[in-house]
Amino acid sequence: MSVPKIRHTMEKMAFTPRGQRKSSATCDPVIRMCWNENQLGMSEKAKAAMAAALEKSNYYPDFYAVALKDRIGEVYGLTRDNVFTAGGSSAVIDAIGAVYLEEGDEVLYCSPTFGAYWDMATANGAVPVEVPLTKEMRYDLDGLYQAITDRTKIIVICNPNNPTGTAVGADQLAAFVKKVPKEILIMVDEAYIEYADDPDVHSAVPLILEGYHVLVLKTFSKIHGMAGIRVGYGLACPEIIDDLMRSPGAFNTSTVAIAGAIASLGDRDFLSRSYQMVKNGRDYLTRELEQLGCKVYPSQTSFLYFDAHMDPQDLQAECAKRNILIGAFALSRVSVGNKAQNAAFISCLREILPAAR
Ligand SMILES: Cc1ncc(COP(=O)(O)O)c(C=O)c1O
Repeated sequence: MSVPKIRHTMEKMAFTPRGQRKSSATCDPVIRMCWNENQLGMSEKAKAAMAAALEKSNYYPDFYAVALKDRIGEVYGLTRDNVFTAGGSSAVIDAIGAVYLEEGDEVLYCSPTFGAYWDMATANGAVPVEVPLTKEMRYDLDGLYQAITDRTKIIVICNPNNPTGTAVGADQLAAFVKKVPKEILIMVDEAYIEYADDPDVHSAVPLILEGYHVLVLKTFSKIHGMAGIRVGYGLACPEIIDDLMRSPGAFNTSTVAIAGAIASLGDRDFLSRSYQMVKNGRDYLTRELEQLGCKVYPSQTSFLYFDAHMDPQDLQAECAKRNILIGAFALSRVSVGNKAQNAAFISCLREILPAAR
């Protein structure tokens, strides 16, 4: 059997500038604006809870992560039976693929988007079916609907979408979900939704409560700032959660991750400071990028997708020479940093762009 190409991993490596090998572990003081990490750090309450949990980590964790599932259930008005936890939402995506996909099934989503959906399909013998985003870089729900076939097993909506930052409104999404045949699982990846400020954009969790075939993905890697701890979760009806509990990684949420995640969910102050830092940074970067003549797509996330009218790979390489790492796709993507990082990125562009045009 041939091993599928891992596009997700390649995206993660995309910051490596041409002709240069810099590992993220050895390149300080590099400014990482390529992986949408939280530059505020993480909750002090989460750190304290994890330090305490470390003391008990000679014992196995609660394999069912009941305390975390109960806390998550409380947050969304669900129960522990609606929650599946894993080592990041990427691991939830892996579990979904392992449990549901078979040779020849189709996984439908818009492109460009997060590479893990392609991986999920191809790693399990399924076919990724990619519908282009609209020209405003938005998810094309009509296009997705028209692309449904009798082989479609999963539809993925990345909301808001990575790498473009654009989002689908809740009413529009609900109307779509209601008309899609019930045999198709609709996976809504909300890794960044806590950063949205558009009042029309909110979570698809109410659709689970209304009994629709929706699985919502969430992560502690973004607004909670716990990317290195590896904890994420899926929310769905109990039957779907039971299916996921049969996947290989189902019992792997560590004692430290459980403790940190519970504490972070309770730290409203940290979460609102994370949100505010990103919102201020997003507004600042949008303004400055536009002043530099870039086209910026409206973002509901902790990153901006923009057209600098320069080859994105070249821009990435030029920024990397100046120790700033950004993403390169069909266009460029920059993660929102803290004030100093955002300013450093803009002064770097002030140097690069006029010379390149
Ligand atoms: C849209 C989206 N979903 C999921 C993830 C995975 O997050 P994690 O596995 O860290 O929870 C990412 C990470 O960048 C992402 O951009």
